[in-house]
Amino acid sequence: MVAHLAVSIDGATTGFEADQARFYAMATLWQEDVTLVGADTILAQESAVRTADRPGPRAAGPLLAVVDSRHRVHNLEDLRDLGYWSDVIGLYSDQTPARAPDSTTGELVAGYEQVDLAEALELLHRRGAQVVRVDSGGTLVGVLLSLGLIDELSLLVHPVVVGAGPRWHGAFDGRFDLRLANTEVFEGGIVWLRYCTA
Ligand SMILES: NC(=O)c1ccc[n+]([C@@H]2O[C@H](COP(=O)([O-])OP(=O)(O)OC[C@H]3O[C@@H](n4cnc5c(N)ncnc54)[C@H](OP(=O)(O)O)[C@@H]3O)[C@@H](O)[C@H]2O)c1
Repeated sequence: MVAHLAVSIDGATTGFEADQARFYAMATLWQEDVTLVGADTILAQESAVRTADRPGPRAAGPLLAVVDSRHRVHNLEDLRDLGYWSDVIGLYSDQTPARAPDSTTGELVAGYEQVDLAEALELLHRRGAQVVRVDSGGTLVGVLLSLGLIDELSLLVHPVVVGAGPRWHGAFDGRFDLRLANTEVFEGGIVWLRYCTA
């Protein structure tokens, strides 16, 4: 599993203008089978999705899996049509509020209150997923780090300090040893740091 994030020098994931074009162009590098996204990342893009083009699902694209134990995301069908993903799926828990009976969206249920991420990933793996890329503002990445589920960390570091705000590692306060795999410097002072778990 790879976590790819755009960050400030002080590790923030919001509060600055990220080079989105470069970020998403680089995200294609892993050719993931599943894009694992936090519900809050989806909710932050809700209005942009409403007005976006809808070319329809991309057959060769990854599966979009949204972690959503509180069922806060109600536009999964719209996301399917954006032209990035082949299909979408909600990851829920036993306690997730009921979904619409006529919903055409697939789902996996793992865990009691919150989604059991290790179990959900195992279920996705059984459906053939090999490479998973996490797209999160840090909270979900932090939980996955705590569970020891991240194999690769890719940080696109922007030359800005933003002070307070969410960090790429969420609430993780343990220790995580890394091995540098690659660095690259881009125009505008953006530095790409790529690490693997030690
Ligand atoms: N800079 C970047 O690269 C980047 C990338 C993506 C997004 N963003 C920005 O980051 C912001 C959103 O990021 P965020 O960090 O607030 O949220 P997030 O990581 O997108 O979403 C939080 C997710 O973590 C899940 N979660 C929390 N604790 C959990 C636990 N113990 N077990 C299982 N799942 C757990 C939540 O699930 P439940 O809903 O089930 O609780 C939710 O799906 C937005 O502003 C977005 O624009 C930045």
